[in-house]
Amino acid sequence: MSNNTTSFLTKLAAFVLLSLLIVLGSCSGKEERKPEAQKPRAELAPLPDSLLILAGKQLFYSPALGSANKSCASCHIEGEDLKGVADSYPKFSDLAAREVTLVEMNNICIEGALKGKPLDPESDAALALAAYIRSLK
Ligand code: HEC
Repeated sequence: MSNNTTSFLTKLAAFVLLSLLIVLGSCSGKEERKPEAQKPRAELAPLPDSLLILAGKQLFYSPALGSANKSCASCHIEGEDLKGVADSYPKFSDLAAREVTLVEMNNICIEGALKGKPLDPESDAALALAAYIRSLK
């Protein structure tokens, strides 16, 4: 693939992700905490989670998280080796030499393996990536 194509695909992936995060943002408004909004809404309830997971999947396959021209999926092929690991967190990491959360573990790989900037643990992107890892069963 030419550099132009790669850069276009990276921008496209970033655009799709951003759109998803905007939709997500608008789904998690304050009105959800109002009592009348706490009534069961069976057909709407799973939406935010599935969008988070979708956004996380975009990130998992995107080289935009780092500068090493790799994505998470370059090493964790199809996420196979990460199936079920989310449940073991928080746990001790030899790499970090302390107990880490899943979000922190993802950041360790972003910094070390992808040569990228760690995600703000509170950010939609960090939560989306963790939601995707959690969805791998
Ligand atoms: C260059 C290869 C490489 C890349 C790219 C990479 N990782 Fe990793 N990852 C590893 C290695 C090696 C380990 C350590 C495996 C072990 O000993 O548990 C690891 C461990 C993990 C673990 C802990 C697994 C467990 O058993 O608890 C998670 C979660 C993880 N990576 C997520 C990610 C995410 C998310 C990305 C992308 C942001 C990513 N990794 C990118 C190589 C990579």
